[in-house]
Amino acid sequence: MKISVCIGSSCHLKGAREVVNKLQELIKFHKLEDSLTLSGKFCMGNCRSGVSVDIDGVIYSMNPDNVEVIFNEMVLKRINS
Ligand code: FES
Repeated sequence: MKISVCIGSSCHLKGAREVVNKLQELIKFHKLEDSLTLSGKFCMGNCRSGVSVDIDGVIYSMNPDNVEVIFNEMVLKRINS
């Protein structure tokens, strides 16, 4: 699985750094370092809502408060199924 966080300026202002930190914590906590890659990606053309995060080709709008919910739904459930 591949997760890419937008590093464009609009997403940066919406908290991309914090979203990356939370994702890193979650990946470490669930010991998923070998199951997925986390990287940065330039503007995904989805700047209006939260921080754009591409999970295997689908873009989600994250913010520091919903990272864990989306991670649980879209990453953990899929990896564990
Ligand atoms: S800056 Fe992140 S989608 Fe445009």
